[in-house]
Amino acid sequence: MAWTPSSWRGMPIRQVPEYPDAAALAAMEAKIASFPPLVFAGECERLKTALADAGHGRAFVLQGGDCAESFGDFRADSIRDSFKVLLQMAVVLTFGATVPVVKLGRMAGQFAKPRSSDTETMGGVTLPSYRGDIINGPDFTPEARIPDPSRMEFAYMQSAGTLNLLRAFATGGFADLHQVHRWNLDFLGKSTVWDRYEGLSARIDETLAFMAACGMNSDNAPQIRETAFYTSHESLLLPYEEALTRMSSTHNRHYACSAHFLWIGDRTRQPDGAHVEFLRGVANPIGMKVGPSTEAAELVRICKLLNPGNEMGRLTLISRMGADKVTAKLPPLLRAAREAGCNVVWLCDPMHGNTTTQAGYKTRSFDAILAEVRGFFDAHAAEGTVAGGVHVEMTGSNVTECTGGAYRLTAANLAENYATSCDPRLNAAQSLELAFLIAEELKARRAAAPRQVRAAE
Ligand code: PEP
Ligand code: CO
Repeated sequence: MAWTPSSWRGMPIRQVPEYPDAAALAAMEAKIASFPPLVFAGECERLKTALADAGHGRAFVLQGGDCAESFGDFRADSIRDSFKVLLQMAVVLTFGATVPVVKLGRMAGQFAKPRSSDTETMGGVTLPSYRGDIINGPDFTPEARIPDPSRMEFAYMQSAGTLNLLRAFATGGFADLHQVHRWNLDFLGKSTVWDRYEGLSARIDETLAFMAACGMNSDNAPQIRETAFYTSHESLLLPYEEALTRMSSTHNRHYACSAHFLWIGDRTRQPDGAHVEFLRGVANPIGMKVGPSTEAAELVRICKLLNPGNEMGRLTLISRMGADKVTAKLPPLLRAAREAGCNVVWLCDPMHGNTTTQAGYKTRSFDAILAEVRGFFDAHAAEGTVAGGVHVEMTGSNVTECTGGAYRLTAANLAENYATSCDPRLNAAQSLELAFLIAEELKARRAAAPRQVRAAE
């Protein structure tokens, strides 16, 4: 069937909000459709090329940010601190594992949330679930929970403002490698991650001084002065995504222009469903979450639907099995995709399969997160496929939402600064620690690989 930006409307759809005022929704869609696009097709193509490098094992993807951005936290500090931690993580991976890092924020548009249940009950009162600030409000009142199309306009404006600052940071001098010490956050204090990061920064300074002596500096080497930073979010609220879909006259294809990269969530990946239909027709690099209920044959079918040209970099599969399931569930999927010849980039989301409740808070343990990342690397090593990167929920703030890590947060600490508007995020120290551990894994596995090849000969 022919694809159009609205062909998803003829397909069964899940996780859709029920707007009470259809005329107001249509008016808002028309308004958003008249706004400028947030990204340019050429940027999406550049990201696709960078992702293809990761798919071939020549780069590593770092995708991270909030579970859900919120209207209440639209501040330069929050954006700057999350960007800082992503830069720190990237530099740890680049320098520690000597691999180029593709930086992809879950930022500037991550506002719509799928929910396990349509309703939420508290103190005997049942209300519609909160679905993200682009749809309804988090307060537990009947008024807040009514889907309101006018929220799309603020989400667009916040995305534009956030993206503007991210672009300024990425190219305006903030991301210059000479600033590597300045990215460290005061509250990391005298912790082991702070020390490790300072040690690495000193080595980078030394390297930069050596390079300057050889004639390469910020003035003549843009790679030192600036970085490429891309944005992504879940493509869930299709009326909004359709309104921002534009035909690129340069590329003669449709692009979803709300972000560089959009993904399909684990709850909306039905091959005959609306969300797969929408993303199959846009030319952006796209992703799909792959949870433990994914069947191998179905996965291959969706890969062919979403990437009919079998272009490396077009489709990223984001595995989110859970630490206890990754060893059993992932290898058959890696094998099926490989045997079917599907060119895909594999990322590990070690967050969404490891959510538990402790002391009344939704949380995740650092150990489980790390165990899933290791299981992901092991599965790829065993199947001869490429572990292309990680996808994490993190923040640059000093929150207490996940347990464990260098500060050994326990369930008793969760109440101290539990600030997420949806899922628990790694805080700055935990994020950085994870990056160091991943860099070590990458390095060790690279060192071990030639031996494995020899053993196989
Ligand atoms: C998410 O990434 O926030 C999310 C809801 O993930 P998943 O679709 O994998 O559950
Ligand atoms: Co989440």
